[in-house]
Amino acid sequence: MTEQVKDAPYYELYNPTTGIRLPRAWFVSDAARLSLNGEWRFRYSTRADIAEDFAAQEFDDSGWATIPVPSHWQLNGYGKPIYTNTRYPFPVDPPRLPDENPTGDYRRTFSVPEDWGNQRLVLRFDGVDSCAKVWLNGTELGIVAGSRLPAEFDVSQTVRREAPNVLSVRVHQWSSGTYLEDQDMWWLSGIFRDVTLLARPVGGIDDYTVTASYDHITSQGTLRVDADVEARVAIPELGIDTVTGEDIVVDHVEPWSAERPRLYPGTIATTAETVPVSIGFRTVAIVDGVLSVNGEGVLFRGVNRHEFDPQTGRTVDEELMRRDIVLMKQHNINAVRTSHYPPHPRFLELCDKYGLWVIDECDFETHGFFPVKWKPISVNPTDDPRWKDALLDRMSRMVERDKNRPSVIIWSLGNECGPGRNLGAMAEWTRRRDSTRVLHYERDWTCQYVDIYSRMYTNYEDVDAIGRGVEVALDDPKLDARRRKMPFILCEYAHAMGNGPGGLSTYQDLFEKYPRCQGGFVWEWIDHGLAARTPNGTDFFAYGGDFDEEMHDGNGVADGLVFADRTPSPSLGEFKKVIEPVRITIEDSQAFVENLYDHIDTEHLDFIWTLEELGRTVAAGTLGSLKVSHGSTGVLPLPPLPPTEDEAWLTVRAVLREGTNWAPAGHEIAWAQSQTQSPRPAVSMQTTGAMTRRRDHTVELGDAVFNSSDGRLMKFGDLVLEGPRLDVWRAPIDNDRSFSWAPLEPAWRSLGLDRVHHRTNSVELDREELVVRTRVAPAGTELGLNVTYRWRADESGLKLAMSVEPEGEWTVALPRLGLRMSLPGELDRVEWYGLGPNESYADSKRAARVGRYSATVDELQTPYIFPQENGNRMGIRTLTLRNAHGNGLRVDGDLHFSFTARRWTTESIAAARHTTELKPSDRVWLNLDYAQNGLGSGSVGPGVLPAYRLEATDMAFDLDFSLVE
Ligand code: GAL
Repeated sequence: MTEQVKDAPYYELYNPTTGIRLPRAWFVSDAARLSLNGEWRFRYSTRADIAEDFAAQEFDDSGWATIPVPSHWQLNGYGKPIYTNTRYPFPVDPPRLPDENPTGDYRRTFSVPEDWGNQRLVLRFDGVDSCAKVWLNGTELGIVAGSRLPAEFDVSQTVRREAPNVLSVRVHQWSSGTYLEDQDMWWLSGIFRDVTLLARPVGGIDDYTVTASYDHITSQGTLRVDADVEARVAIPELGIDTVTGEDIVVDHVEPWSAERPRLYPGTIATTAETVPVSIGFRTVAIVDGVLSVNGEGVLFRGVNRHEFDPQTGRTVDEELMRRDIVLMKQHNINAVRTSHYPPHPRFLELCDKYGLWVIDECDFETHGFFPVKWKPISVNPTDDPRWKDALLDRMSRMVERDKNRPSVIIWSLGNECGPGRNLGAMAEWTRRRDSTRVLHYERDWTCQYVDIYSRMYTNYEDVDAIGRGVEVALDDPKLDARRRKMPFILCEYAHAMGNGPGGLSTYQDLFEKYPRCQGGFVWEWIDHGLAARTPNGTDFFAYGGDFDEEMHDGNGVADGLVFADRTPSPSLGEFKKVIEPVRITIEDSQAFVENLYDHIDTEHLDFIWTLEELGRTVAAGTLGSLKVSHGSTGVLPLPPLPPTEDEAWLTVRAVLREGTNWAPAGHEIAWAQSQTQSPRPAVSMQTTGAMTRRRDHTVELGDAVFNSSDGRLMKFGDLVLEGPRLDVWRAPIDNDRSFSWAPLEPAWRSLGLDRVHHRTNSVELDREELVVRTRVAPAGTELGLNVTYRWRADESGLKLAMSVEPEGEWTVALPRLGLRMSLPGELDRVEWYGLGPNESYADSKRAARVGRYSATVDELQTPYIFPQENGNRMGIRTLTLRNAHGNGLRVDGDLHFSFTARRWTTESIAAARHTTELKPSDRVWLNLDYAQNGLGSGSVGPGVLPAYRLEATDMAFDLDFSLVE
């Protein structure tokens, strides 16, 4: 007879969670509490099945190391971070796991404060990744799974009140729960959120539910607070002093919205405990297919936010949460999807306070079943009844925890779990529990369980079709009819990986055009780059593969609008401009102000103007304020402007009249520019140009010396140059790369655009003109670009007229088309008149305005975590590069050109995998471009739109070079 010696361990059960209290609201009351955060004893093992003897009270842990709680052990020297996007980093064999299962044993002692008496005691974990078994004084309390969810144990009977207690926790990296937590992020384990011992006074308030609705027709608010005990509810400002369980109607209440987050402070109290509350009155409803709050449709200008800190991973402190929110508000963002799990509960309180609409998402993703084709379907937990309890447990723990947050207007069942019946059970439970919010889930396009039609990365045509209500029908006519009546959002769009996204404004136009399209959430807020250092001490951000992982998904983990250290990437500025809630248009001495807010008027704004001639301020003033109600447009008359003689631009800006809790007075919300004076016409070329002179191997023209065999400029004055010549290559951006939905890099490389050959066909001298004809072509093809450079010189400098004629059938877009040259490295002070101050590209230049800007070459670089083309400035009229003494080179364009300047070549960027590999040379590499291909959002989503594609067509381009002395 055989004997079964191994049962499934608890961490492989479908729903291992046992022993925890019923979920309840998260709050901080006046009841005593003791933080158990701090240094704990710690032991790391590579397997999960070692003896549990460490849980015994008397166990000697003096030989153990210590670790901070909260933290992830991988960021404290144990095991290593792993990054995968969709794939599970172990065999897909649910709910089973490999024998190697990194496990951390934690121990700490604590004493119950003497003055706590005999109150009930609750031990609370706000987040443990991924499964923990907990003992107090050697007695097992229970098991908890659900990494980003709270769990509480009642320890009243187990605790020792007069002697020190020993708390022991065993945490496994992998558990059955891991199959439900396959979010696109680092795999990081441990007790990563707070641990607290809570005194629960007799007669205290254990749980309460606030329902605070707003009737936008009568301006009445209705407040009801239900609690597990009878308690008094006091909201002094509203004169409310009542008991729980009653509906209180208040006349003329101010509603809560993300735009004006009006909260009424108050308390819920018994004689034993007082809970401070902040009440926000608001009503969420779907009316005629439009998601509305307080009777107004909302347009989400949103972002997806993971919790992330480059040093501490998903352990984030309040300061960082606040920083995220303030940065969002400062950039006109009005909504957050808590992708893809409930955040630290304090974050949501801050959203209430500062004003952000929130989609609170359950800790549920099974994306790793996608690579195995979700089959057999029964193994996908979403549709497998064996997982139902675990999923209901997750949903209820989120809803109960966050139910009192007015900012949370949508519950999301999870992300990318495929379709399945368990979603139905989660939805049904949630609807029964909370009828004041609507439900969201993206990856079941029938929308059978939810209230909103949500998609991700949908292309523009399809969004347009959905906006018009003519989207492709579902097979089931009933579900189809139901879905057609639903509001539509993009829960993810505009993938902000690396340089990009381009095309944001095209989406915004659709959102603003169709009432059904209620905006979206950019993927994503933060780059999850982990702070790392090279052996020689240079800091950088690490991504997938940097920890020698068995499998990984590279820099896909870094796709945020802000870099990991919260420095805004240029795309955040672009997003801010595209989503500005007030749109200003300048026409005929008037500024039209369109109010695109959903709830508020424009009285909080001041309008100011500046007139600049060639980027220098000529006059400025204020236009005062203007009250425009939302959905309307108002007009501000502009003052008479002083005369100007050369190119002049009027800028009108809307700024905050008074400071708020997220920005000081004067903070800019929106702006517009309009040209008021055309450039002075260029003086046509003097006929008395300099004469060409032929020497041995050179040709001289004015102050310039050219190589006579290939016609390239070698010297201009004292500047040693590597002459400008045609350049078509850019270091591929993430949106170009092979994993992209619209990959360009493979086509570019296979055609050979990264290694074109230059052939000089002729170098011709005329009296005053040097004409160089070349053919630039990739190997192995008949395609070519015929280039003519016509050089002349006069007293002011050198004049280049360049033209390009493609030969053959070019079918791929060109990365760039322009000139590349190199200059002495000391010319590192750059000034330009054109678009700035940040980088801009054909499909991402809304945020750039005409002006005069300066920066060092180093400041012009954008340090994308994975090196790629960056730093382009468009619309350039004049560019100068100078050395410390003010000497250098000036370039003027006939047409507006673009430039990039850097200390390394495009090739070295394309070869680098980390910023630390970019080594400054003693040259400045300057690209003067006619154009560059757009950015697109192809890393995940649509590629470059036809309007922004750089086709190989005839091009003519004139530049003037002069010496600055
Ligand atoms: C989505 C997913 C996100 C993220 C994104 C790509 O499919 O929901 O979590 O992986 O793609 O960066």
